[in-house]
Amino acid sequence: MSIEQLEETARAMVAPGKGIIAIDESTNTIRKRFDAVGLECTEENRRAYREMLLTTPGLGEHISGAILYDETIRQKTRDGVPFTQVMMKNGIIPGIKVDKGTFPLAGCPGEVVTEGLDGLRDRLKEYYALGARFAKWRAVINIGDDIPTGTCIEANSHALARYASLCQENGLVPMVEPEVLMDGSHDIETCYEVTEVVLRSLFGALYDFDVMLEGTILKASMVLPGKDCAEKASVEEVAAATVRCLKSSVPAVLPGIVFLSGGQSDEEATAHLDAMNRMGPHPWPLSFSYGRAMQSAALKLWAKDMAGNYAAAQKTVAQRARENGLAALGQWTK
Ligand code: 13P
Repeated sequence: MSIEQLEETARAMVAPGKGIIAIDESTNTIRKRFDAVGLECTEENRRAYREMLLTTPGLGEHISGAILYDETIRQKTRDGVPFTQVMMKNGIIPGIKVDKGTFPLAGCPGEVVTEGLDGLRDRLKEYYALGARFAKWRAVINIGDDIPTGTCIEANSHALARYASLCQENGLVPMVEPEVLMDGSHDIETCYEVTEVVLRSLFGALYDFDVMLEGTILKASMVLPGKDCAEKASVEEVAAATVRCLKSSVPAVLPGIVFLSGGQSDEEATAHLDAMNRMGPHPWPLSFSYGRAMQSAALKLWAKDMAGNYAAAQKTVAQRARENGLAALGQWTK
């Protein structure tokens, strides 16, 4: 696979005013989302829901790519057209989540490591043949008493780097995602310190494994106070801390950084991204790769009346895409 192709894909993922929609929930995760709105988690409901999202009229105007799950990348529209074909026709690059989720890290109570490296080379070859051009692997870092440990950070960075190297070997742009969770009562400074250590460890590991940064995208968590922290932070504080942290740890050669929403409200996720871009220019485009903050309004509507609210649900997806696209340019207004 040529380096140029990887670079081209990576740059297209963060084209100006465009970002990514994450619809790669595992069956267990989408079951939780469906339960919350009273939907049954059948294969047909999952397929129909993803079809509704992916066939949103005009989605490609502000969405450069979508991250799918193993089940979803094999599914088709009601009319029998593979989802990947619908996406490519609309200029949306198919991506695929390839990790197998988090498991307790032995010897490190309260911490997890992401698994899924066994057999990954063959799976990547299959996903490429199915149309995927980028992949995602999510590591999870918890903040708490005496955690994260260096052991946990290193184990996760090592796995991310091995995954990224395998992706590039097989023609897929690795989206590396070390998510520092919002859960807990820690303050924003603690989140800053942890995120900085995690990112420096990750880029050290990517270097060790000879990962070409020009063909890599970082999916980062924002620097935020924990959900239960008494001291809230303003939009400007979050934006400034996040940008400072990224500048201190992410090489400028990276083609782009996208953020996860991580449990922020739709509006917070958009406002934070917008504020960061207003502080630019930065060494890299800063855009979005939101799951919940792209989908939650649409899911609620669709669950109430799948047929009757179909167009209305799609309208909210298009609206979220437009707002986040503007935020990626620092041009969003409330
Ligand atoms: P959220 O935006 O809902 O955090 O999901 C993004 C994602 O893909 C997390 O891995």
